[in-house]
Amino acid sequence: MAKKIGVSDLRSRKWFMNEDNMEMTALYLERYLNYGLTREELQSGKPIIAIAQTGSDLSPCNRHHLELTKRVRDGIISMGGTPIEVPVHPIQETGKRPTASLDRNLAYLSLVESLYGYPIDGVVLNIGCDKTTPALLMAAATVNIPAIALSVGPMLNGWWKGERAGSGTVIWKAREMLAAGEIDDEEFMEIAAASAPSVGYCNTMGTATTMNSLAEALGMQLPGSAAIPAPYRERGQISYETGKRIVEMVWEDLRPSDIMTREAFENAIVINSAIGGSTNAPIHLNGIARHLGVPLDNNDWQNIGHHVPLLVNLMPAGKYLGEDYQQAGGVPAVVGELIAGDLLPHPNAVTSNGQSMGENCKARRSSNTDVIMTTEAPLKEQAGFINLSGNLFDSAIMKTSVISEQFRQTYLSNPDDPNAFEGRAVVFDGPEDFHHRIDDPAENIDENCIMFMRGAGPKGYPGGAEVVNMRAPAYLIKKGVEALPCVGDGRQSGTSGSPSILNAAPEAAAGGGLALLKNGDRVRIDLNKCTADMLVPLDELAERARTLEENGYPHPESQTPWQQYFRELTGQFDKGMTLRDADTYRDISRKG
Ligand code: FES
Ligand code: MG
Repeated sequence: MAKKIGVSDLRSRKWFMNEDNMEMTALYLERYLNYGLTREELQSGKPIIAIAQTGSDLSPCNRHHLELTKRVRDGIISMGGTPIEVPVHPIQETGKRPTASLDRNLAYLSLVESLYGYPIDGVVLNIGCDKTTPALLMAAATVNIPAIALSVGPMLNGWWKGERAGSGTVIWKAREMLAAGEIDDEEFMEIAAASAPSVGYCNTMGTATTMNSLAEALGMQLPGSAAIPAPYRERGQISYETGKRIVEMVWEDLRPSDIMTREAFENAIVINSAIGGSTNAPIHLNGIARHLGVPLDNNDWQNIGHHVPLLVNLMPAGKYLGEDYQQAGGVPAVVGELIAGDLLPHPNAVTSNGQSMGENCKARRSSNTDVIMTTEAPLKEQAGFINLSGNLFDSAIMKTSVISEQFRQTYLSNPDDPNAFEGRAVVFDGPEDFHHRIDDPAENIDENCIMFMRGAGPKGYPGGAEVVNMRAPAYLIKKGVEALPCVGDGRQSGTSGSPSILNAAPEAAAGGGLALLKNGDRVRIDLNKCTADMLVPLDELAERARTLEENGYPHPESQTPWQQYFRELTGQFDKGMTLRDADTYRDISRKG
């Protein structure tokens, strides 16, 4: 370890050892002594290391962090640091109404205040469930004190009737079986329970596994840390190593802005394609980048990521789950395969262990090429996202690698125009409207329809709802139609395998083109040109825009003060859904 700073440079000295103001020092010290910390611990120059604690009874996905934190503390103490646990506003993806993503920015704001306003020299970020990872990385980016992430790890593989039951993914499947009358309510509950067999987060390549893998891809956690399942012994061991390493990082003065560079984000985009990562990733990475002042937008995702093949055979795009991912080598094996295929753009990017991504991973290979494939024989070519635009929106993301064969044959098989399709718009204003109308035969929905979900973006349904992956009407499913094309200004769960066009910005509630769309309009989508347009005459669109201007786009009342503030302050999905002006506060720990 090359020490770059000395004891007198520690931030915490301003609180606990301020020789110019012993009165304040006494005041700052006394309350930390009252539960048993000693003056020696607080004044002898031991770095104070925060553990940003996202685990709680309210957050089952991250709850195991309460246990792992014991090992993190051991690691910190063994290297001469003093651990201080810092509670983080709870976020639970499946339990929070109206949606967990509403709370990402709230957790971000509160953690910024905790890390900035208290005597903290470095921080371990306890990441896991979907939004906890970006919330903590965003806060670390803004405050910019030495920081390292620690995943809580995925759950063990789930099993139902002898087959892998993946969190989230099996629910989407079961809801179709329920709609088709193949299972009853009781079996639905059994399937759901089977997919959650242990502590940890979703074991599919949903948003959690994606964001934890990307925290490692960005260099923000120790190599190999992301994929270890929560109950494995290696999870406790890497927690200890993470605690040790953050103390060294403080002395090395290795900060988030040194690690999360433009090069690191480009690596992460490529790795996201290779793992088959969630469509929530661009929202969160664009948001983290903004807080660092690193330029990043949805064009980068298409330009840097679209051509990259899918290597990781995990649900929803593939067939395996988290334990298989770990046993095949996890993120280092994926990166090693990408390096072997000359597809990793920046092997020199520095990571939290002080080594480069290339040094960490170039000797690593998949130990099971059915789970993590090679770049010569990938699961799919071109696994990244495309970025569409047109008169419906300026930017929306589509994951083309999950387009099913049936979808391709139904919509993309016109020999003259194989990458484009047209359809009749069926427009839903929010998930409640969808549930009301979807099975009503009067809607006359058929294979020639494109379903639209609007009013589900950051302002419309505060935080943005994961509702764009709409199921087809039950009467079509019974006829064997698996899925209709879906477009919307909301999000979809990363555990869903639907090829929806989503995260549309600007959303309807922010005056985007989707607000002008009417039931029955013809819509044309061209996946080659990356366009999506309503085929409505210009004068008619101008007339609709005038009416919208007068009446505004309706959205439900805010139920809490935070919902109202969020709606007033949030940016759109393509800009990372960050709060207005928040990204002008950078590197604040070094400014005072
Ligand atoms: Fe928490 Fe999936 S619901 S990780
Ligand atoms: Mg989700």
